[in-house]
Amino acid sequence: MSAKPVLQVLSGESVWPPPAWLMRQAGRHLPEYRATRAQAGSFMQLCLNPELAAEVTLQPVRRYGVDAAILFSDILIVPWAMGQGLTFAEGEGPRLPPIRDRAGLAALDVEGAVARAAPIMGTVRRVRAALAAEHPGTTLIGFAGGLWTVACYMVEGKGGGEFKQARRLVHEDPAFFCELMAKLEAATLAYLLAQAEAGAEVLMIFDSWAGQLPPSAFREWVIAPTKRLRAALKAARPDIPVIGFPRLAGPMLVEYAAATGVQAVAMDTAMDPAWAAAHIPAATALQGNLDPEALLAGGEALQRQAQGILQAMKGRPFIFNLGHGVEQPTPPEHVSALMKLLRAA
Ligand code: CP3
Repeated sequence: MSAKPVLQVLSGESVWPPPAWLMRQAGRHLPEYRATRAQAGSFMQLCLNPELAAEVTLQPVRRYGVDAAILFSDILIVPWAMGQGLTFAEGEGPRLPPIRDRAGLAALDVEGAVARAAPIMGTVRRVRAALAAEHPGTTLIGFAGGLWTVACYMVEGKGGGEFKQARRLVHEDPAFFCELMAKLEAATLAYLLAQAEAGAEVLMIFDSWAGQLPPSAFREWVIAPTKRLRAALKAARPDIPVIGFPRLAGPMLVEYAAATGVQAVAMDTAMDPAWAAAHIPAATALQGNLDPEALLAGGEALQRQAQGILQAMKGRPFIFNLGHGVEQPTPPEHVSALMKLLRAA
């Protein structure tokens, strides 16, 4: 079996040139994705069709030779699997019937969640088998949303705003919010373990809205639940490394890295990589953080920004990525140019 650079980095090695993959590498910027999605009918039907979801997971691996495949699914599959409705209206993003009362909370089915999410595990199994056969150096990353971020969507019912309902609920009815988080934590843990069982080699936690919280609430609703999740995963599967992404955490990234026990932290676009390198001990790998807009722009801007990140990260365990997801209008040739630059680093 050939070595997998992403796993090497997550075990603490500095690999150079660094391995690379991109958040949202599978998605609407790729013509082959748009074709498969049209075949599936809708985004949800695509997520729940193991054959087609495996196909789109593999598309960027084939086209770009990235070092990781990330399971094609969505963080909102967990609330969906607990029985909360979920739709993706064309061009509007996710819609869920908001949970604001005891009845909504009581209706969430934690025990049945993994069974309902069975198609996702089918995708994981298929991708892992395909990688073993065709791309033996490529690592399969499974994921879930951070509990804070997913709870925001569950309470708010949609994205696009500042999640003020969720942020208010934390203060107005902390007991209610605690119960919601406890259910979500149990379902998320079972869901991540099922992914590991099905063949995910790394797990990533996307806490996209972590940066909205003041430090005390960040400790309570981002660091503490992530630490518990990481510990429970480790108890069951000590072999599976975890990447944490507390987006827009700013200086709280340091405390997050030290307290949660994750093997890597993903830097968002706003993070200065030189600052992160100076403040986060090398025992925790870093991942990131090219501006998706620089990738969209291409050319000189892309080259300069990517080189700056490489320079700041040289010599430490590092996985190249974006600071957030690939933008839809990004020309695939820009991604290919980035990969060429990285392979020559
Ligand atoms: O990164 C990957 O390639 C893996 C797949 C993945 C998707 N969503 C596919 C997706 C992952 C890891 C996610 C995570 C996710 N989903 C997050 C956390 C990361 C982040 O971006 O901050 C969040 C907040 C969501 C919720 C979500 N899903 C939103 C807000 C939207 C709408 C945005 C949009 O561009 O329309 C989605 C839909 C979604 N998830 C798409 C994809 C490829 C677009 C769906 C389509 O094809 O129309």
